[in-house]
Amino acid sequence: MSTAVAHPNIALVKYWGKRDDSLILPLTGSLSLTLDVFPTTTTVVVDPHAEADQIVFDAAPATGSAAARITAFLDLVRTLAGTNARARVDTRNSVPTGAGLASSASGFAALAVAAADAYGLTLDQRALSRLARRGSGSACRSIIPGAAIWHAGLDDATSFAEHVDGPDLGMVIAVVDAGAKAVSSREAMRRTRDTSPYADAWVHAAEADLALMQQAFAAGDIGMIGEVTESNALRMHAAIMGCRPPIRYLAPQSVALFDAAARLRAQGLQAYATADAGPNVVFVCPAGEVDAVREALTADMPGERLIAARAGAGAHLVEVTA
Ligand code: DP6
Repeated sequence: MSTAVAHPNIALVKYWGKRDDSLILPLTGSLSLTLDVFPTTTTVVVDPHAEADQIVFDAAPATGSAAARITAFLDLVRTLAGTNARARVDTRNSVPTGAGLASSASGFAALAVAAADAYGLTLDQRALSRLARRGSGSACRSIIPGAAIWHAGLDDATSFAEHVDGPDLGMVIAVVDAGAKAVSSREAMRRTRDTSPYADAWVHAAEADLALMQQAFAAGDIGMIGEVTESNALRMHAAIMGCRPPIRYLAPQSVALFDAAARLRAQGLQAYATADAGPNVVFVCPAGEVDAVREALTADMPGERLIAARAGAGAHLVEVTA
């Protein structure tokens, strides 16, 4: 029995678009912070006598596409391990699933680590990152503690995440809506590539933003990290809004929260907003300012559900006592 824990990560430079849908090779590199909140815990037990994988998701049997995606992932692990044996998978998310709070990242990172161990594979961090990527692209970054850069790479072997040194950052998550989103990021990414007139512009902008972000990390320049973060998120959403049929993830409340970030900066706090494929907004700030940013937001927008987070551990095995 192998149990692993992984945390979500939030990208400062986003991954939005695939060069290869089946290997999940991204069009561009990305850079993120793995958090210390909302862990996913996944247990994998190989059962040589079972006829099919049994997958339990938040205490209920998984069915349909969610189960198929996990079985397809286990098939990859079985190929690496040279076995056909089925498995029992039990996964528990403490983050609302499918709400744009990166549940697929923590989910596939935890599954990669637990399944590799259960099937007897000894994989280093890079190999685990490549494996997690095959489940969900952003999951390759949740293998890594703290700040991680996902190198787009040219093929399966060169597309992986690794740690990147930089200043100590924290985040404050504003939960606008914890319900599942209407269009999955997988579908929306495809639609952006196929229908948005801004798709190519996004790719060029994301490459330039990643280069700037790496400079900002190396220099420890939080102002530049924040500015690139906020602008990169809005550029991604602009490309998404160019889809047909249209997709818009940002709600009126999300936009109000971007305005709140500007007001916090006017008060002297270093807070910058970002948002993934959903209406929730995440504020990036120096780790030492997380509590001050949370308090200032509570005063500025009372009633907002706010969660403070700091840099967290990469996906790892845990001992479970029965
Ligand atoms: C907006 O990693 O969930 O959060 O690879 O299709 O599973 P798939 O997509 P996924 O997309 C994450 C998109 C994002 C940006 C990011 O995390 O970089």
